[in-house]
Amino acid sequence: MNTLWCVIPAAGKGVRAGGDRPKQYQPITGRPLIEHTLERLAAHPRIAGFVVVISPDDTHFASLPRVHGKPLVTAVGGSERSHSVLAGLRALPESVGDDDFVLVHDAARPCVRAADITRLIDMAGAGEGGLLGAPLRDTLKRADEACRSVATEPREGRWRAFTPQMFRRAALSRALGLAADAGIVVSDEAMAMERIGVTPLLVEGSEDNIKVTTPADFTLAEFLLGRTR
Ligand code: CTP
Ligand code: MG
Repeated sequence: MNTLWCVIPAAGKGVRAGGDRPKQYQPITGRPLIEHTLERLAAHPRIAGFVVVISPDDTHFASLPRVHGKPLVTAVGGSERSHSVLAGLRALPESVGDDDFVLVHDAARPCVRAADITRLIDMAGAGEGGLLGAPLRDTLKRADEACRSVATEPREGRWRAFTPQMFRRAALSRALGLAADAGIVVSDEAMAMERIGVTPLLVEGSEDNIKVTTPADFTLAEFLLGRTR
């Protein structure tokens, strides 16, 4: 069975979440958020090891208990998520070849389900990579500056993008490097790949794979963690 390394961007400040420390270190059921994320990923048989990308002024990661039992290295991230992911790719061990697939998963998504990871690996791994996501279900509005709805946009063919996302090591490094050189901030790996002509496979995953973003999301994640596997 092929196993993959996983890059975990965890170098953000968590501004929207507030609190006395970055959200990835705030507690959910009494343990730092990132511990839940690492525990879920480490339990997955197809994941071989981790690069956790932390901020240059991180004061929390070193004191976390080691819950995973799989190799883990750290890298130092940058000012944008895409810079952090690129730093993580550079820190992968040499044993990860240029054409090997690598997963990228937000530290802030602790509720990811094992079955979704497996499906992503199987489906996206048959081509040039892809990502978990879900088709839009709500009606989509175009707002003006006063928050008035000026139009209803078509929902068909529109997806929300989640993580993990999975691409080949060298192709993803190249795509992220080109975007950075062009001064373009890509919001996810798939966007960087789209810019170089790759069409990532959208693999439908559970919508409870939330990205903890606001204070209210901690309560929701706590609820979901007890119910998803
Ligand atoms: N991230 C990162 N490096 C950055 C910015 C974000 O590694 N320069 C990581 C975050 O730690 C998080 C993931 O990317 O695990 C998704 O980003 P997001 O949810 O936007 O987290 P933050 O940027 O920390 O939050 P905010 O935008 O509210 O400040
Ligand atoms: Mg952010």
